Amino acid sequence: MQRALDLAARGLGRVEPNPMVGAVVVRGGEVVGEGFHARFGGPHAEVVALDAAGDAARGADLYVTLEPCCHHGKTPPCTQAVLHAGIRRVVAAVTDPFPEVGGRGLARLREAGVAVEVGLMEAEARRLNAAFFKRVLTGLPLVIAKWAMTLDGRLAAGSGRSRWISSEAGRRRVHEVRAVCDAVIVGAGTVAADAPSLTVRLAPLPEVRPQPARVLLDDALVTDPARPPASTVADAPVLVYTSPAALEREAARADALRRAGCEVIESAEAEGGLDLRAVLQDLARRGMSRVLLEGGSRVFGAFFAARLVDRVMVFVAPKVLGSANAISPVAGPAGLELETALALEDMTATPIGPDVLIEGRASDY
Ligand SMILES: NC(=O)c1ccc[n+]([C@@H]2O[C@H](COP(=O)([O-])OP(=O)(O)OC[C@H]3O[C@@H](n4cnc5c(N)ncnc54)[C@H](OP(=O)(O)O)[C@@H]3O)[C@@H](O)[C@H]2O)c1
Repeated sequence: MQRALDLAARGLGRVEPNPMVGAVVVRGGEVVGEGFHARFGGPHAEVVALDAAGDAARGADLYVTLEPCCHHGKTPPCTQAVLHAGIRRVVAAVTDPFPEVGGRGLARLREAGVAVEVGLMEAEARRLNAAFFKRVLTGLPLVIAKWAMTLDGRLAAGSGRSRWISSEAGRRRVHEVRAVCDAVIVGAGTVAADAPSLTVRLAPLPEVRPQPARVLLDDALVTDPARPPASTVADAPVLVYTSPAALEREAARADALRRAGCEVIESAEAEGGLDLRAVLQDLARRGMSRVLLEGGSRVFGAFFAARLVDRVMVFVAPKVLGSANAISPVAGPAGLELETALALEDMTATPIGPDVLIEGRASDY
């Protein structure tokens, strides 16, 4: 199953919004075929592995990281291929959360006399496909919050300048993550302060993937259509979420943004800004399953306050800013106490160039 999970991971950035899936055919203790789902719309892992095994699949065991599908989607049902190949036993890591499958694939196999086991390395399989599970089960994309800060925990100087806190090596790592995300989200404050391009430039983009969309949270509609990212729609799409009131008040700016090629989207408001859950739901409806939240301080504060962050990715630079009015990373509501602090799990620390990258899980996904 570990081999199947390793194979599955090769589909990262290529199969979404499908899950990554790997499969290994084993006969008499030997691997006789293996495969993975390599691109959206392409053959499923089971079919690739069974094809590779050929006649050796008869009477063999199939290890697969996700329950085989039993419905006609873009390809015929995998259960059919498993039965046709004469597999004796199927070991699946986890059942498919997709409503059209949901245990029915395994049931179909059992009915046909195949021995079925489920749950081997289930936690690892769920984690690998966290974005898929979260979107199918909650209608929200997986949210990865990423920031770079100084050793004294500051996101930017009091002037608002934050270029560059992290090193070139750290920025390359960020671009690798952007390359497998469907969107990069920033607040209007960051757009105004940095005019960031938010595209993938320092890492290769999987050949089947477009640039991630740039999502701007701008309830007052202050984004300048003449500056990046709004002025560079040819590089990657720009979605500007704003409030109904701002759309009325700033109709001319909304038109200018549309003329620049941005999509301006009216969104509900909540306390302190846009209704972030509604924005995420809209992104998921557009097929997005993994998004990178890149700040700034108030936007991070609002996402953490609403418990909408799943993963954290923090670059700590070996610099002490040393200024009392420098901006801290997460400016949520005042007055919170340690008792209510969000506890992260599975923390890791990895040196990246001169920086340390700290990562962890902030939700069950
Ligand atoms: N070091 C890093 O990794 C990093 C990364 C990003 C940014 N930064 C720095 O962070 C600073 C910008 O941070 P910031 O706090 O000023 O701005 P911000 O968080 O980027 O944006 C805040 C804006 O987002 C809008 N917004 C929409 N919905 C919101 C909601 N639900 N909650 C909160 N805001 C919402 C608000 O508009 P309204 O005000 O109209 O309500 C607000 O103006 C800059 O100095 C930038 O350089 C550093």
